[in-house]
Amino acid sequence: MKVAIIGSGGREHMILKKIKNHPKISQLFVIPGNAGMREEAKCVNLDITRNEEVLKFAQEQKLDFVIVSPDNPLVAGMVDVLEDAGIACFGPRKSGAILEGSKIFAKNFMKRHSIPTANFWTFDSVSRAMEFVQTASFPIVIKADGLAFGKGVVIAHTLDQAVQCLKEMMEEEIFGESGKQVVIEEFLEGKEASILAFCDGKTIVPMMSSMDYKKALDGNEGLNTGGMGCIAPNPYYTKEIEQECMEKIFLPTLRGLQEENMDFRGCLYFGLMLTKDGVKVIEYNCRFGDPETQTILPLLESDLLEIMQSCANQTLQKEQVIFASQASCCVVLASNGYPKAFQTGYPITYPLTFEICFAGVKEEGGQLLNAGGRVLSVTSIAQTLQDAREQTYQKISQISFEGSYCRTDIGGEVE
Ligand SMILES: Nc1ncnc2c1ncn2[C@@H]1O[C@H](COP(=O)(O)OP(=O)(O)OP(=O)(O)O)[C@@H](O)[C@H]1O
Ligand SMILES: [Mg+2]
Repeated sequence: MKVAIIGSGGREHMILKKIKNHPKISQLFVIPGNAGMREEAKCVNLDITRNEEVLKFAQEQKLDFVIVSPDNPLVAGMVDVLEDAGIACFGPRKSGAILEGSKIFAKNFMKRHSIPTANFWTFDSVSRAMEFVQTASFPIVIKADGLAFGKGVVIAHTLDQAVQCLKEMMEEEIFGESGKQVVIEEFLEGKEASILAFCDGKTIVPMMSSMDYKKALDGNEGLNTGGMGCIAPNPYYTKEIEQECMEKIFLPTLRGLQEENMDFRGCLYFGLMLTKDGVKVIEYNCRFGDPETQTILPLLESDLLEIMQSCANQTLQKEQVIFASQASCCVVLASNGYPKAFQTGYPITYPLTFEICFAGVKEEGGQLLNAGGRVLSVTSIAQTLQDAREQTYQKISQISFEGSYCRTDIGGEVE
């Protein structure tokens, strides 16, 4: 079987590690991949914002299966283009990916199917949005409707902040089309949990829970990032909460997808807030998360490729999806300054004695150099979170490049 993974981050590197030795795979590509993956698969430098370019390659190579991992190509319908040409894919078609591609769609979907979420109001006119915030009670949450590189959510604590944010999103269009419409939401309080689920449109199978750390600095200080670390299982996600989520969120979402003929075959990501009034959905993503993927996939004992194919073929029901009952801790090493401006081009030194998921790296003269904000991540699994955490930080201490930084409190004390 010839297989390709679309994407170039740590998430895709972990998917690659999980499937690269699969006996069914004769050839494995990553499109475009990164320099840290080159020993494990063939990286093909295509423009993944152009579906036709990927289709052409897939046809030339006679690919049998394509794992479309990042949000942009999913929302832009890459799976539709490939499947319509007869190439099987893991990942939702455009009609399913809209759950992530439009926050307004997602909120209205939840409303239609009575899925608990924060109260919300939607706006396509800046003047009406401005008028609304004049009388709102703060904090409130303002979200650009479309994809915005994970930067489209602002928690406004004052009227001034809200006005400024609406100006930037709706008038100055800092996120382009994505911010022309916004959702304004009630501010919720509670612990957050990420639940990724395999879904084939008929069956939904939640994976192990996780908790990601979005802020740049220890103690959840600093700016929002794509994620600086993650642990699994999520310490707050109890059996009772799991039950509640199944009944009130996961199954109603699946029924909603079916009723609305949204073809969802891939990974459905539930961003949840555990509030005192029950669990609420903060957001859906239509793909694996990063670094949740690097955290939970090492615990997956079942055959990932088989499960992904079953999602595509709608035979997920027959799959056993088994996770080791251990703990996992993933820490991201980033470039100094991230998520703001940072310098690139510093050589990375690392031992070859453990697995590293590379993300923002490039190669020059046989040396790996940092080339992005989040540069790499390391994960350990162990019987206890404490042990997993110690092992991960022990590994991280053996990796260096100029200006590298990581959070030191991933998996540390939780209240
Ligand atoms: N209604 C809310 N109340 C409180 N906090 C919220 C609310 N909505 C979002 N947040 C906070 O903002 C973060 C980002 O929101 P959301 O997940 O909707 O955005 P996103 O940009 O799609 O994120 P991602 O990059 O993970 O896909 C959440 O993880 C949560 O911490
Ligand atoms: Mg999202």
